[in-house]
Amino acid sequence: MSVNDVTTNEVANAALSCEGIVKSFQGVVAVNGASFSVPEGQITALIGPNGAGKTTVVNILSGSMKSDGGTEHIGSTDVSNWESYQIARMGLMRTFQLSRELGGLTVLENLLVAPKTQSGESLFNIFFRPGKTKREEHANTQRALDVLQTYGLYALRDNRARELSGGQKKLLEISRAVMAEPKILLLDEPMAGVNPALIEKIGGYILDLKAKGVTILMVEHNLNVVEKICDHVIVLAEGRTLATGRLSELRENKEVVRAYLGEVIDASSAR
Ligand SMILES: Nc1ncnc2c1ncn2[C@@H]1O[C@H](COP(=O)(O)OP(=O)(O)OP(=O)(O)O)[C@@H](O)[C@H]1O
Ligand SMILES: [Mg+2]
Repeated sequence: MSVNDVTTNEVANAALSCEGIVKSFQGVVAVNGASFSVPEGQITALIGPNGAGKTTVVNILSGSMKSDGGTEHIGSTDVSNWESYQIARMGLMRTFQLSRELGGLTVLENLLVAPKTQSGESLFNIFFRPGKTKREEHANTQRALDVLQTYGLYALRDNRARELSGGQKKLLEISRAVMAEPKILLLDEPMAGVNPALIEKIGGYILDLKAKGVTILMVEHNLNVVEKICDHVIVLAEGRTLATGRLSELRENKEVVRAYLGEVIDASSAR
């Protein structure tokens, strides 16, 4: 299926969609009219060659970076070029390709930085409603400990985040995003550089999030993972949406095979 074949029904059920996103860096075009929709309640993979613009698209959709043009909708709300905190309030959170833990803080503290409902920042609350602030702190800490338990990081809660392994840092990224109870989660290569056992685990965590109703868009190079857990695939090449569909359909698409799958299949058979 080509991008022009996206049905009205699919768009109607989109948790997140974008149209004609463009972005250049000093004259170099990184994203060149990317358009796609992410079906609600499903796991969608965003795949494509290195430099295709996947991370830039995630940066733009999450409000971490401004686009040069194009629109974005969360449900039916136009959120084009909103700030990241406004996008987060709409229930969209993201993780980073290169983990961005606060290394000097503990694992637990990393989860307590600016959770969604915290009113403790407000001076009014600190002076006039200290009980409320304390209660919220306690509830947030409890929730953070539960999240750490879920993602296997509870025993490491008092360790400095910088002491974690690469895989544990990926889990911390996911934990931080989940802490905000997102409706939509964008994961930028959540399994890159992670050992096979942990890949399996992270795949399970992502499926659990889907079972809870979270819509997921994940950038992923590992096609075995895509095949196992993703319902829907978007192929990005040279900043454009080349095709969308199921991975099995895309394997039959000559343009996709030429642009990306051929290269990935060759690489895996050479191993
Ligand atoms: N901040 C930046 N400044 C300049 N160029 C950038 C910047 N970010 C990305 N680019 C360029 O934009 C293009 C798209 O990069 P992007 O990181 O979005 O690709 P990607 O699909 O995520 O690649 P990968 O699979 O390697 O992570 C690349 O040519 C990259 O060099
Ligand atoms: Mg990237």
